[in-house]
Amino acid sequence: MSNRVLIVDFGSQVTQLIARRVREAGFYSEIIPYNADPARFNDFGAAAVILSGGPASVLDDEAPTIPASVHASDLPMLGICYGQQALMHETGGTVSRGETHEFGRADVRVTEDCALFDGLWEKGGDYPVWMSHGDKVTALASGWRVVAASEGAPFAVVENPGQRRYAVQFHPEVHHTPDGAGLIRNFLTRVAGLTPDWSMAAFRDEAIAAIREQVGDKRVICGLSGGVDSSVAAVLIHEAIGDRLTCIFVDHGLLRKNEAEDVVTLFRDTYNIPLVHVDASDTFLGALDGICDPETKRKTIGGLFIDVFEAEAKKIEGASFLAQGTLYPDVIESVSVTGGPSVTIKSHHNVGGLPDRMNLELVEPFRLLFKDEVRALGREMGMLHSLVGRHPFPGPGLAIRIPGEITAERADILREADAIYIEEIRKAGLYDEIWQAFAVLLPVKTVGVMGDGRSYESVCGLRAVTSVDGMTADVYPFEPAFLGRVATRIVNEVRGINRVVYDITTKPPGTIEWE
Ligand code: XMP
Repeated sequence: MSNRVLIVDFGSQVTQLIARRVREAGFYSEIIPYNADPARFNDFGAAAVILSGGPASVLDDEAPTIPASVHASDLPMLGICYGQQALMHETGGTVSRGETHEFGRADVRVTEDCALFDGLWEKGGDYPVWMSHGDKVTALASGWRVVAASEGAPFAVVENPGQRRYAVQFHPEVHHTPDGAGLIRNFLTRVAGLTPDWSMAAFRDEAIAAIREQVGDKRVICGLSGGVDSSVAAVLIHEAIGDRLTCIFVDHGLLRKNEAEDVVTLFRDTYNIPLVHVDASDTFLGALDGICDPETKRKTIGGLFIDVFEAEAKKIEGASFLAQGTLYPDVIESVSVTGGPSVTIKSHHNVGGLPDRMNLELVEPFRLLFKDEVRALGREMGMLHSLVGRHPFPGPGLAIRIPGEITAERADILREADAIYIEEIRKAGLYDEIWQAFAVLLPVKTVGVMGDGRSYESVCGLRAVTSVDGMTADVYPFEPAFLGRVATRIVNEVRGINRVVYDITTKPPGTIEWE
């Protein structure tokens, strides 16, 4: 791989988005914390460097600094927010503490032509950007000049073209800076002179070669959930090693309508991948009997899942590897500049304990990919859009969509309501606009009138959100007529539900799932 882009992380909440933008522009990128082992910066072999934002102040004692080898290099460099301040502070400019914090939308006025602006911004024009800073640059180091300014940041964009160094006070990586992706692309192509070479076609070949090399002539087992990551992983690994891959699909009885049949048919019959289908619904529902607490539900399902999976996996002779669909956001080391502990909101269920217990080595072909890149890889391999474009589905399944006690009957009721909701979303052509949509069955009964009689049944909640990564989410703004249609169908067609409500809570402060 050539044209690798190094992102030095100073702990910004949105550093991952820089990597996203760089990948979207067609370049491989990795995030390395500013305080990582110095050898890693040399070994990476960067063709260009981006310095991230971060919460610290360059004026503090022990403020994060640019790694020495990066600083001393003549690589093209783009500093963002804290990255700009660090670049100025460490090369002879001045950074001052801001009296106020500038946060939110601002307009920058372009005062000079600049390679970053090519094809995007013109001299004299005003353009919206997203600011989030306290400190600001107040004097430039020699060799630098201002090319765009805003009211709160007179040094909004600065350049030192001789050294191929550029720096911006605002955040080009966030969606709220509409031309931000273009500015980053210009940095990589026009300033650094790189040619895009990161594509899923290239990744596919490299990944297949790497899997063959790692696995040799041994066997791999893959836990298939029916979700995007494990499905694409199974197809990719099958392409690499053929029938030395066996998939294990544990049906915990809390999947969506027809999901188990669909997964088995697709993988066994269409892809011809050896597949063990374990119908463990009774075991799981039995273990969940009487459990109402969300975290206890998760732990019960997670623990049992490992037991069932392990028992099946042991039957597969000679298996030495376990495939997992681990994604890049799971492996990026987080930089804690402020050192505060983070709070566990929900303990996400995964099969993390398995490899150690079973003495299996991991095959993780997506360790360096983002979720939408996995989808793109699936498309590259000709997988159906209905599979690779699927909404995320949590490991514990419907268990965390049935607040209170779970019974087989309640799971059936929810499955029917959810299927109607999703069917209507697809019919209205909205499925791909929504990041995740699902129904929830509440442990609340309300009175209704059906025909001439009184009904006393459960409430169904509907949720639909837009999001980039599930970390934050907005409510999807359905037309009232659409919601009315769904509500009528659910109440008429699903026995056990007589009232439907729509959840209009954003995340934060809500979470996406109800439990
Ligand atoms: P929350 O509810 O935390 O959800 O806002 C964010 C995303 O994570 C999914 N989710 C889970 N996924 N195991 C999973 O594999 C879990 O226990 C779990 N809880 C939430 C949720 O569906 C959403 O996509």
